[in-house]
Amino acid sequence: MNVMILGSGGREYSMGLAIKKDEQVEKLYFCPGNGATENLGENVAIKDYNELAEFAKLNNIEFTIVGPEGPLVDGVVDIFKSHNLTIFGPTAAAARLEGSKVYMKNFLAKYNIPTARYIETNSIEDAFKFIETLPVPVVVKADGLCAGKGVIIAMSHEEAKKATSEMLSGASFGDAGKNVIIEEFLDGYELSMFAICDGDDYVLLQAAQDHKRLLDGDEGPNTGGMGAYAPTPLVNEEIYQKVKDRVIVPTLDGMKKEGAPFEGVLFIGIMVVNGEPITLEFNVRFGDPECEILMPLLKSSAFDLFHKAATNRLNELKVEFLDEYAVGVVMASADYPYKSSTPAQIIVDEILHDELKENAHISYAGVTLEDEKLLATGGRVLVCVAKGSTIKEARDRAYLLCGQVHFAGKKIRNDIAYQAL
Ligand code: AMP
Ligand code: GLY
Repeated sequence: MNVMILGSGGREYSMGLAIKKDEQVEKLYFCPGNGATENLGENVAIKDYNELAEFAKLNNIEFTIVGPEGPLVDGVVDIFKSHNLTIFGPTAAAARLEGSKVYMKNFLAKYNIPTARYIETNSIEDAFKFIETLPVPVVVKADGLCAGKGVIIAMSHEEAKKATSEMLSGASFGDAGKNVIIEEFLDGYELSMFAICDGDDYVLLQAAQDHKRLLDGDEGPNTGGMGAYAPTPLVNEEIYQKVKDRVIVPTLDGMKKEGAPFEGVLFIGIMVVNGEPITLEFNVRFGDPECEILMPLLKSSAFDLFHKAATNRLNELKVEFLDEYAVGVVMASADYPYKSSTPAQIIVDEILHDELKENAHISYAGVTLEDEKLLATGGRVLVCVAKGSTIKEARDRAYLLCGQVHFAGKKIRNDIAYQAL
């Protein structure tokens, strides 16, 4: 079968690597892909989704997987389905769980899914009044998609009010900030959990931890994620069970009641507070770099998992995971996340150690191919991923691989998976 993956990041590269292992997959297409996905398949540069659906039919692409939230919120799944094409991802209606934080918080409240205490408002007076009732820090969130920048953790009431005014006036995020969520700050440890859903059933993957801040010790500005590892030993069976019973099952039931059954990847951002998992937010796609470490931990076919989910047959599947750990270290360009950097050639040393050859690989993200040279052109350039029988072994291998990859200005965090070691 020919398969297309929408997106251009390390997440999409890693999905490509994973599904290619299944011999049912013949040719891979990426739209738009990056400078390295061309080694796995063919890049397609079509922006209009109806045109892309026509391209899929013309090229016998029988299955499409959507990586990022943008096309989902824009309704690519609805369009492909109207062309009778099989596609994995939520409809625009279901993607509102990520596209609107107001929709998501009201959904959580309606179905009694534990989340931080909040108000949703477009009134500056109501916002200020609620802020005064909360202890600091206070969390202020813009309603719409803000490329990961729409959440402010304000250290004082003043700062919270300033952030709120700037959002409501449209100054910080335009229309995406015209409604805001003000909520209490939850103090605990954060998890990323992913449920592959087919509308009725789900498969929960291993719990991961991301590293959102740029610098070691969780210092510096927020980023898309500087590294991740899984499974995290911070999660026991009891927490998994609570997430299933209190979050995933009521969400799938609730979305059916709302007339928008959830099919796709439900990314649950969780804060564990005193042993209780509280839902911070939903995303409707894989996390990046979490996807890059979860794909290699699948013992069963990733293709089968996505395809069965897209055709409402997850109940036929028994998914197995490797009894190993994976660690991913993001290599970013010099000026990430502030501004784009000068393109720099990427050189990867020949890997001589069998141990590394067998257990580590690179997932490419912000790269461009020019005159057969691979250039670092994006913010997050690539992810060095490794597996091991312990977290330490996986992490040592990932950092060994980092040492073999060179480009001017490269930067990494040196403490990925510190929470578990
Ligand atoms: P979100 O986009 O909602 O995931 O928020 C981005 C990040 O802000 C999260 O990954 C958390 O680290 C942090 N965050 C969001 N909401 C809260 C909260 N209520 N309490 C503490 N931290 C939060
Ligand atoms: N790594 C977090 C995200 O993809 O949103």
